[in-house]
Amino acid sequence: MTGRTAPSGVSRPPLSLDEYAERARARLDPAVWDFIEGGAGEERTLAANRAAFDRIRLSPRVLTGAGECDPSTTVLGRRWGAPVAVAPMAYHTLMHPDGETATARAAGAAGLPLVVSTFAGRTYREIAAATTSPLWLQVYCFRDRATTRRLIEHAAAAGIEALVLTADTPRLGRRLRDLRNDFRLPPHIAPANLPADEADYSSPSEHGRTGLDPSLDWSVIAWLRSVSGLPVLVKGVMTAEDARRAIAAGVDGIVVSNHGGRQLDGAPATLDVLAPIAAAVDGRCALLLDGGVRRGRDVLGALALGADAVLLGRPVLHGLAVAGGNGAAGVLGLVLDELSEAMTLTGTATVADADASLLAGVADTT
Ligand code: FNR
Repeated sequence: MTGRTAPSGVSRPPLSLDEYAERARARLDPAVWDFIEGGAGEERTLAANRAAFDRIRLSPRVLTGAGECDPSTTVLGRRWGAPVAVAPMAYHTLMHPDGETATARAAGAAGLPLVVSTFAGRTYREIAAATTSPLWLQVYCFRDRATTRRLIEHAAAAGIEALVLTADTPRLGRRLRDLRNDFRLPPHIAPANLPADEADYSSPSEHGRTGLDPSLDWSVIAWLRSVSGLPVLVKGVMTAEDARRAIAAGVDGIVVSNHGGRQLDGAPATLDVLAPIAAAVDGRCALLLDGGVRRGRDVLGALALGADAVLLGRPVLHGLAVAGGNGAAGVLGLVLDELSEAMTLTGTATVADADASLLAGVADTT
């Protein structure tokens, strides 16, 4: 015995986000796992998001004198500990009873923002009390605008700093895993910031069909600003043309997203459409990306292709499922450590230094 091995029964912390995913899967009810993990249709877009990051190659640089890297950055006038925020996801309470308050605590401790979902399982006031980092509200526009307006006012009173309109969901994509499982929320899981008596939220796909407004157009951006007075970002932009329209409509930021492959199956990977969108945006608003970020080096790859920051989705839920707030903190800590490793080994001293010169090319994996 060398004494170096962990005592039996004591497991070491996960060393990668994929290890968090494996451990989460082992703990979760299979239908809940399918709900968080699945995509729409044949899950081609879900797979494409990750494959695009897998093709990125970064150039190691040597003897740069860069020293310790600084991963912090400024987005919409606020300092972030790193160019990483938590993506909006419904019902963190499915993973752990503390839900979004645990996520907010973990994000706040790392100096990272959290985008809370319209369908958060804890109240915006509780969530806001758990973090001093920026808190944004993701908005789904309901057919009943008065409900949407009340939700925004409630969140603004709790200290939300910006609105993120999810624009890619005029209806929910057909998520075959959920349809096969006839997935329903357990009775104790409900949206904490929406009136309980106004709709049946138990089947997300059914509520998505009946509740969400399918006829939104760009005028909704001005409406969101008028009812809140807050900066407005639009999430779900996948073309340069829509990015130009978003800027013409006055957005403060764009999130390049295909909803983690949960909406239009067959849509391209977000990373594959980023460069033309970044060219169209040309620094006129904040540019974020989500979908398939699973390593710190993925963050650097997205920055190299023109993003200001990324949103991290499913891995945060995996962390919560594994160990509540400590697990979410573990996931965010791993990403930041890996980002710092990638920045240091590419001689990237600051986030502002990350540009296309980092890219060694794209691996041919065909
Ligand atoms: C989501 N996503 C999402 N988006 C949104 O705008 N509002 C929401 O309520 C939700 N809810 C939601 C639940 C679950 C379980 C998942 C997995 C995703 C999409 C999310 O914001 C983001 O776009 C993707 O999850 C990012 O991709 P990755 O990081 O999960 O690959």
